[in-house]
Amino acid sequence: MKAIEIRNKYLNFFKNHGHNVIPSAPLIPENDPSVLFTTAGMQPLVPYLLGEKHPEGTRLTDYQKCVRTNDIEEVGDNRHLTYFEMLGNWSLGDYFKEESIQMSYDFLTKELQIPAEKLSVTCFAGDEDCPKDEVSASCWKKAGIPEERIYFYGKDDNWWIAGEEGPCGPDTEMFYDTGKPACSPDCQPSCDCGKYVEIWNNVFMEYFKDKNGYTKLEQKNVDTGLGLERMTMLLQGKETPYDTELFEPIMKKLEELQKIDSIQSRRIVAEHLRSSMMIIADGGRPSNIDRGYVLRRLIRRMIRHLNKLQISLDEISTLIAINVENLKGMYPELEKNQATIQEVLLEEKNKFVKTLAHGEREFNKEMQKAKQAGTNVINGQVVFRLYDTYGFPPEVTKELAEENGFQIDLEEFEKLFKQHQEKSRAGSEHKFKGGLADQTEETIAYHTATHLLNAALKQIIGKDAHQRGSNITAERMRFDFNCDHKLTEEEKKAVEDLVNEWIQEGIPVTKQEMSKEEAIKSGAECMFIEKYPDIVTVYSIGDVSKELCGGPHVSNTNELGRFKIKKEESSSSGIRRIKAVLIKE
Ligand code: ALA
Repeated sequence: MKAIEIRNKYLNFFKNHGHNVIPSAPLIPENDPSVLFTTAGMQPLVPYLLGEKHPEGTRLTDYQKCVRTNDIEEVGDNRHLTYFEMLGNWSLGDYFKEESIQMSYDFLTKELQIPAEKLSVTCFAGDEDCPKDEVSASCWKKAGIPEERIYFYGKDDNWWIAGEEGPCGPDTEMFYDTGKPACSPDCQPSCDCGKYVEIWNNVFMEYFKDKNGYTKLEQKNVDTGLGLERMTMLLQGKETPYDTELFEPIMKKLEELQKIDSIQSRRIVAEHLRSSMMIIADGGRPSNIDRGYVLRRLIRRMIRHLNKLQISLDEISTLIAINVENLKGMYPELEKNQATIQEVLLEEKNKFVKTLAHGEREFNKEMQKAKQAGTNVINGQVVFRLYDTYGFPPEVTKELAEENGFQIDLEEFEKLFKQHQEKSRAGSEHKFKGGLADQTEETIAYHTATHLLNAALKQIIGKDAHQRGSNITAERMRFDFNCDHKLTEEEKKAVEDLVNEWIQEGIPVTKQEMSKEEAIKSGAECMFIEKYPDIVTVYSIGDVSKELCGGPHVSNTNELGRFKIKKEESSSSGIRRIKAVLIKE
């Protein structure tokens, strides 16, 4: 059975059981800044699980597009996908355990015709927050699952909540026995040897968790989730989702194009390409923060693996077209947004290609250093620098390291990454230095362009052209500086040309921490020295510019686009003001 047939059967089955079919919410949550992507079908329904009336009633069903990226590095094995589709049905204070379990059993055994002997189920074992779920167990028995295939586990396995707080409850999970031999006499559904595969999760959401613990919700809900790719693979007797029609055309093309054979790299490319395309179709764009950064990591990891397969990056357009053709029946949004998907992916590819060469050279140097120091661990600071300066996602560094028999200190990297995020957040509150309160990709680019303009003015106008103010929005930059005359057309053009020359050169932007004293001694520019703490951050753009600054900045000037001065005017006596824009080409 094909994926699309499973989806249609599911929606029809629940429609016939009184459910209204609702559309998939976008991958990018509409009103929920607390999560990066929609990770489960219940997420867009939280208000209704908490008691608000849903316009479509108390029985709902849908297919939901989901992205989960907590284990990007594991993609490439046979199970983990970053994008997947979840089929779900909900009772909002309507039916509860008995009806839910009976419907699940009937759908699996009658609609999908899975022999009942292949099914095992698990239920909640009970603890101080919630009693043992005997009710679910007896419903399963009544439906047709014998006692010996009903297992009880604790909160780790049989309790479901999205994140730390929110609606939650005990769940009952259904497992499919692949028929592989048991790994030991104790092999059970909770074992991940591959004999049992979880196929469906019914959560009985009657609790709410917050900092103070669990309380009962006003209504008893059911929230279920069935992973479509996994079900498709099992019903087709395939070993991995990559062997199903969802991935088959793209996998075949990759095999045709590759010069070096690697099944793992082919899977990574196929998986990340589909994810990226789905995210872009729903409005996601690569950037250095939050969901944009997840997308960037997916695209960059895909490119790395195309390189490993020695497939020309010019083939990306062909690969996109194959996926659109194959998946447009399930996701018409891919065809509708094909041009945008293409544009975004190619632009990101061009950026990454430029930083990749720099970064790999840098990485090789660090590897030599580590070797000389007698260790095979690349420390977290190096991993962070590669990330921060060269745009290397940590998993790319990890893979590079592993290919060379090295490891990376991921824990230290994560610590530094968190510190960096906190610092950028704090930095963004330093409005006097440019008002980077909203750190979008655009404002970050303008921030770096500000440093370049500052340096260019010093070269063209004179050493005394000090910065006197700056203001940045996503659309433009404004820069005030000391100057006793209106700039001539030639001066403006020379400044513009110099900035563009530096952008063209693709100069890495690097960052260093040092004492304030050291920073001043090194000649770093600074506007209000007294406002800085004793340890300061200094951003350098090659040997073009060096400034005390909280950041954040792009990692390379080639990310900026074309710099254009829109206006030059007087700001106040002895101070001129330039308004400029960056034009993406
Ligand atoms: N919300 C439940 C899950 O994601 C169904 O497993």
